[in-house]
Amino acid sequence: MENALLQLSYLIGSITFIIGLKMLSHPESARKGNMVAAVGMTIAIFGTIFLYTSTDGEGAHLHNLPWIFAALAIGTVLGTVASKRVQMTAMPEMVSLFNGMGGACAMLISIMEFRRISLGMAGVETTAGKMFVIILGMMIGTVSFAGSIIAWGKLNGRIKDRAIPGGQLINFILLGGLVVLITMIVGGFMPDNTMLFYGILALAALYGILFVMPIGGADMPVVISLLNSFTGVAAAFGGFLYNNPVMLTGGILVGSAGTILTILMCKAMNRSLMNVLIGSFGGAKAVAGGGGNKEQGTAKEISLNDTAVLMAYAQKVMIIPGYGLAVAQAQHICHELEKVLNEKGVEVNYGIHPVAGRMPGHMNVLLAEADVPYEKLLEMEDANDQMGSTNVVLILGANDVVNPAAKDDPSSPIYGMPILEVEKADHVIVNKRSMKPGYAGIENELFFRPKTSMLFGDAKKVLQDLVAELKNV
Ligand code: TAP
Repeated sequence: MENALLQLSYLIGSITFIIGLKMLSHPESARKGNMVAAVGMTIAIFGTIFLYTSTDGEGAHLHNLPWIFAALAIGTVLGTVASKRVQMTAMPEMVSLFNGMGGACAMLISIMEFRRISLGMAGVETTAGKMFVIILGMMIGTVSFAGSIIAWGKLNGRIKDRAIPGGQLINFILLGGLVVLITMIVGGFMPDNTMLFYGILALAALYGILFVMPIGGADMPVVISLLNSFTGVAAAFGGFLYNNPVMLTGGILVGSAGTILTILMCKAMNRSLMNVLIGSFGGAKAVAGGGGNKEQGTAKEISLNDTAVLMAYAQKVMIIPGYGLAVAQAQHICHELEKVLNEKGVEVNYGIHPVAGRMPGHMNVLLAEADVPYEKLLEMEDANDQMGSTNVVLILGANDVVNPAAKDDPSSPIYGMPILEVEKADHVIVNKRSMKPGYAGIENELFFRPKTSMLFGDAKKVLQDLVAELKNV
């Protein structure tokens, strides 16, 4: 009976993970989806704590409950406080830290199971298959843990981007070393050799550090997503080990979702994963790529008053948010601008590029924080369809995602990346603080095109002044 209930709790956990993940794919249902999956996880955890019985013939329940509940309490308090305090712009580093903890758990599970084998504990079977699962879970979990901690350090500025001389060769040698050691232990040559086991752990940790260290800080979201998928795979190995369906389902979902997200991000930036990993632009390696050194002429400026008049008399305005809007924390005043324009009978929508900002869904989350209605957020294809009938496009702290070089200049590093085609609108107004490039480190010819006018200044200050101006028009 207890076992049936335990299996039922695992089934509920697995189903809620799938439903929760599905709900996460839309901003309106995302919060609920997160809760659904969390409730399922809680049921599976408490099912394990109270219903699990050992399979060694004694049928004993878990006995170290004070330790388990102490760890649960500490984790719950730390997780809740960290999530409540985190700034929106610091989300990627928090995700990285949490992901690292997942990798560390997978690593610890494998260490525990290996110890049980090497100490020859009663009832512990040792097969090559089981050893393979233990070692792979430990190796992947360790790479994910070490890599995620480096990514976390880079994103919060504690660790600088650093090219390692001969880094690729060292990584290659480390991978070769790992293959040799794993073959020795799994192939039965030295089956329960503790030194060998911890040797694999050390090489994996070193590999995780060296693999992430040279990657440009701004490329980190892609790397974090990749490490996330590693953690999922490592957790799935834990599921195999314990014959635990909920760990297996959760691990597979995280592993595949992380892989799909990595691929989607690379596609949206028109870069291969290899290109991100060995770095061609981003972070410390930003270069002035195609078109970057061309004579561009001069950009024309527009005053706040002229901007206000142009927008107030428009029928349709499209706002294009970018990374600078998040930096300026101008989302609330941006929503205010939208409301003032609506009151004047102007239709306002937002054009959302899939990689605007620095993390997946960055702009959606940012604007949702300011209560911008979801239906006003147009995906890139829909926004481009509406661009021809738009009178004014207002670009707020976006740069690469509107750079025409992606369409026109085959020598540009962003060539081929789909962009928001703002030039189809009647007027384009660009707000940023200077003529400096964005993440890709390249100039933007859009700023010099006839339809474009520059409105320089910090996005928050400019929007505050613009709203004040509009109220007088
Ligand atoms: P960017 O191309 O990075 O441009 C942002 C612009 O914002 C900068 O040119 C900057 O110009 C301006 N800015 C900064 N602070 C500002 C402030 N306080 N007020 C007004 N403007 C400010 O941003 P984007 O167009 O959003 O493109 C995103 C880039 O990040 C793409 O290249 C994408 O591939 C990359 N990326 C995205 C992701 C994800 S998943 N979203 C992940 C990794 C990389 P000034 O300094 O002159 O103000």
